[in-house]
Amino acid sequence: MSDVTIEQTRRMHSVEDRVIIVTGSGQGVGRGMAHHLAKAGASIVVADWNAEKMRRTTAEVEAIGVPALGVECNIMERETLEAMVAATIERFGRVDAIINNAQTFRPNQPIATVDTDDVETFYRSGVLGTLWAMQAVYPHMKAAGWGRIVNFASSMGIVGGAGFGAYNASKEAIRAITRTAAREWGIDGIVVNAIAPAAAPPRAVGSEHYEEFMRTCPMGRNGDPELDIGGVAHYLCTDGCRFVTGHTFMVDGGNFLWA
Ligand SMILES: NC(=O)c1ccc[n+]([C@@H]2O[C@H](COP(=O)([O-])OP(=O)(O)OC[C@H]3O[C@@H](n4cnc5c(N)ncnc54)[C@H](O)[C@@H]3O)[C@@H](O)[C@H]2O)c1
Repeated sequence: MSDVTIEQTRRMHSVEDRVIIVTGSGQGVGRGMAHHLAKAGASIVVADWNAEKMRRTTAEVEAIGVPALGVECNIMERETLEAMVAATIERFGRVDAIINNAQTFRPNQPIATVDTDDVETFYRSGVLGTLWAMQAVYPHMKAAGWGRIVNFASSMGIVGGAGFGAYNASKEAIRAITRTAAREWGIDGIVVNAIAPAAAPPRAVGSEHYEEFMRTCPMGRNGDPELDIGGVAHYLCTDGCRFVTGHTFMVDGGNFLWA
């Protein structure tokens, strides 16, 4: 028998009492992950630029029975991300994990007509929003000697999905900073990973992209934000992933296997 206790082992796989920020948790995948992590006992910081949806998720998390802090924040503005982390520290005294899920979208464009505004919006909300949030939590996680960062990528970026040029560029840059931070911050006890999910929102159902996914996905179904994506986000916020860093988790029912 090793010296590891049953209590230590259970704690390793738990997010109970962890303080976790979820950006873009007003709806969709972020909201599902917030529900999952709250039901698993974490305190949740619900961050979104849509104040009404942010308040809705915050109330839902509170109704689950764990502490919640709602923060209105625009990830395209560095100051609001810094204020989000400051508010988290003020309320909870620490930040254990951040899930950089929010992304501002623009209509799809083929490469021939992608314009600067498209690239800037995806880049600012995706890459800079993720980078600034990582920089804001870093000193707190480094001081604690423990931290979990979960960024959001996309299979579209990996396979070069047509029509998604500006989006793909930002999602692949997010994977690049995920790997680099994993190397730089591993020594601080901070692990940095990415999730590439498949949990299409209702507005996408029936689209060409959605039909293609349903045709190729081995599991033959869309992902559930709370159970399918939330379950992996949970793992990536625990101590169970303590030796896993710099990776992209394809949480897509095996769809990436066709690529
Ligand atoms: N849903 C999928 O199948 C899928 C597939 C691949 C990747 N992703 C990625 O997963 C993440 C979540 O996707 P989703 O489908 O839930 O998106 P969504 O559009 O349904 O939700 C995004 C949330 O982020 C918020 N948001 C947008 N811009 C913001 C900003 N500038 N500041 C603060 N909040 C902002 C929105 O208000 C919304 O609540 C994204 O990073 C997306 O690129 C999703």
